Amino acid sequence: MTLIGDAKTPGTPAYASGEVLEIRGGRSLKGQVDVRGAKNLATKAMVASLLGETPSILRDVPDIRDVEVVRSLLEVHGVHVTEGDEPGALVLDPADAKSANFEEIDAHAGSSRIPILFCGPLLHLLGQAFIPDLGGCRIGDRPIDFHLDALRKFGAIVDKQPSGIRLSAPEGLHGAHIELPYPSVGATEQVLLTAVRAKGVTELRNAAIEPEIMDLIGVLQKMGAIISYEPNRVIFIEGVDELRGYDHRSLFDRNEAASWACAALATDGDIFVKGARQYEMLTFLNVYRKVGGDFDITDEGIRFRRGKAPLKAITVETDVHPGFMTDWQQPLIVALTQANGQSVVHETVYENRLGFTRALVQMGADIVVHEDGLEGEYRRVPRRALEQAAVINGPTPLHGADIVVPDLRGGFSYVVAALAAEGTSRVSGVGIIRRGYEKFFEKLTALGADFDVVG
Ligand code: EPZ
Repeated sequence: MTLIGDAKTPGTPAYASGEVLEIRGGRSLKGQVDVRGAKNLATKAMVASLLGETPSILRDVPDIRDVEVVRSLLEVHGVHVTEGDEPGALVLDPADAKSANFEEIDAHAGSSRIPILFCGPLLHLLGQAFIPDLGGCRIGDRPIDFHLDALRKFGAIVDKQPSGIRLSAPEGLHGAHIELPYPSVGATEQVLLTAVRAKGVTELRNAAIEPEIMDLIGVLQKMGAIISYEPNRVIFIEGVDELRGYDHRSLFDRNEAASWACAALATDGDIFVKGARQYEMLTFLNVYRKVGGDFDITDEGIRFRRGKAPLKAITVETDVHPGFMTDWQQPLIVALTQANGQSVVHETVYENRLGFTRALVQMGADIVVHEDGLEGEYRRVPRRALEQAAVINGPTPLHGADIVVPDLRGGFSYVVAALAAEGTSRVSGVGIIRRGYEKFFEKLTALGADFDVVG
């Protein structure tokens, strides 16, 4: 059996995450999925609880691996995490917060990038922090230079060691003037979580402004922080001496909603995504309509399906918010293999997020990746040195294959491709998908997917 995957990551064990699905394709996904709190907000809000003098309650927390990793990291640092007064609610009590040793932290850091966001809160709380080397999806180098530069500007002493980063702040942390070279989501969160308790004012320029960032600002404001969101990606934070716990319901997971929407397109299905909201998905909905998707918006959620006409090829550039999110391009590309004509996807955020297309080509797709990107007449997004582009010619029938999941969103795309393909596929490394999609198997079953868990 030839295992096909993202050849750029040689040595990925065939069953990296120990779960293999056998999927019988050629079926449309129809039904309802409930999307709960955003993976990329809930994990950050959990870290923010370290900053409060009293317990916090976070609601609509998704039951996913990334949340488990952050929960165990908080517990290793003495935070008591218990179930709240409703399903999906967590109570986080930092009263006994303490330092943790390297072995404990490293054992729990798992494949997450979130540990880097513990720096500011731990420095405020304990005057020191140790952050192991980070994991996360292999979609690029994932550097943290913006984070470390910012922490130094706040007055932290940063000591990079072979196994991670040791930080200290013997004089405490003070406000800073920070301009990010790129509107990095993680670096913006790093500045927010550090500045709220620093002495003095912090001015952050070229900040990320994704809805998850704004929701984190909402969490911090509930805790007593003073954060003003100015025009042109400028954020001012006035440090305060004390913060209290919050009670917050996470905004919905836009990436999961977009993923199921693309699954409806690719399998000619009809999926009601309960909990999805129009405002945070405006750009996605425009692209969805241009490809030939159709949607109905209600107060409870959004119904996604293919329109009456065949799917149409389009050109898309990924970008920071309010542009088309980089996390949305992988599920969309599977749908574009079924569209009439030549589509182009410019991936301008990450330098290696198109490797997953190799397995789609093995399934019959016609996709060429331009490693150095492509010029384009109507480029909206400024050309970046690290960008890549995928050219997809369709429609091409897909046939089953044996494939290995390369990363979270690429993995979801593989499952959708297998569902849209004729014949049977074996998809291995599915545990990576379940890191970010709550109740993944249950949702596939509810939508009529025909599959077995075989490994
Ligand atoms: C967050 O990653 C999300 N992850 C990603 O979602 C998402 O794709 C990304 O933001 C962009 O929206 C989480 O929130 C856990 P960045 P993050 O810092 O914060 C470069 C998913 O599928 N950069 O905005 O790591 C970086 O290399 C995941 O849910 C530096 O150069 O993204 C990239 O090219 C995948 N130096 C660009 O900025 C730095 O210090 C954007 O990265 C930091 C980032």
